[in-house]
Amino acid sequence: MTESALWRGRNGEHYSDQIKRFVYQKQEGAFCGSLAHVLKPIPPKATVMGTSSPHQTGDLDSYEMLTRAPLYNLTCHFSDIPPNSPVRGAHRHISSPSLFCLAGKGWEWNDDETYLFESYDLLVVPPYTIHQHGGDRDIGCRIYVPQARTTDALGLMHREQIKFGEKPTFPDGTEPMYGEHGELVGYRLKKGVLGIEKDIEVRLGAEPNVEGAFQARRRMGPWAGLVENTYDRYLKLLHDEVDFCRKVTHAILYKDEPWERTQQGLLKWFVHPEISCAARRQWLYMQEIPPGSRSGKHLHMAEEQIFVLSGRGYDIHDGERWNWERGDLINIPPMTEHQHFSTDSENPTLLFCSMPSLNSDLGLGGIEQREAAPEYAESAP
Ligand SMILES: [Fe+2]
Ligand SMILES: [Fe+2]
Repeated sequence: MTESALWRGRNGEHYSDQIKRFVYQKQEGAFCGSLAHVLKPIPPKATVMGTSSPHQTGDLDSYEMLTRAPLYNLTCHFSDIPPNSPVRGAHRHISSPSLFCLAGKGWEWNDDETYLFESYDLLVVPPYTIHQHGGDRDIGCRIYVPQARTTDALGLMHREQIKFGEKPTFPDGTEPMYGEHGELVGYRLKKGVLGIEKDIEVRLGAEPNVEGAFQARRRMGPWAGLVENTYDRYLKLLHDEVDFCRKVTHAILYKDEPWERTQQGLLKWFVHPEISCAARRQWLYMQEIPPGSRSGKHLHMAEEQIFVLSGRGYDIHDGERWNWERGDLINIPPMTEHQHFSTDSENPTLLFCSMPSLNSDLGLGGIEQREAAPEYAESAP
């Protein structure tokens, strides 16, 4: 379908943007309202990288928003690395991934450095860094990867497969490609998949233009000139960004970040503007709710995606109840009043929460508190 066909009516009629906007918004709103707020994750399966799940609320590409949940920006996936697994593949993309260890322990290899992690630690990979992870040989690990589609909206979705997993599985509709000496060099997406009219080859290795741009950045030292005008600020910014990514930590450890008693409840932040790391697409935090208690009630412009690490209970979203338990994903649309309730009388509930960071840059990042968590209200003077 051509671009112009997409933007015309079914019979090729031309309508003004004003008309299209309201028609599409109305249709989209109705569709959003039909999507579930709590999901059971799609389980991991064998891929060219190792064992990973599909993206749970659509791929990182913007055309996959509003698939299984009423979310535009946020999605996530899981990687399983059982004990004694084959070595996973390595790849590189411009978007900077955050990897949260749900269970077990393992290692993360980024360009030429290895970082170790344990349960509830977060790994942050700077942009365009080759990354590969592995689990402890005896206990393995499980990784949760919260993500945002921001990078696609910026036209920066480049992705390069650097190495395949030790035992890659090629999905339906593809076939492996071998080089002169029988070595695996890539795979072919076959004609007919998603309507493509010719095979598409996905070859191992860097995309020269993207690699060239990033190599040029990385050769830069500190900014040595003066900053005499606004344009100079952008020239210096490039040097500062490169320097930041060179020095910044890749591991944010559970034990290093404090629990904060807040109006929303007990929170531990992994990514926010005051924590120095390369994860800029989302704010990430953990929340603990005591057995049988509840969070505060609040509303924000940002949508939110939450993985239930432990406990069970329900949410109220604009008056509607959504039950959840350990292992579920809670999806909260923008501008929705919400509150979490534990129905587990023995165990605390632990939630791992993600919100797009872009809202703050747009002047739409603030939170309106409508009710405080009971523990906070009781401790207030
Ligand atoms: Fe990745
Ligand atoms: Fe929230």
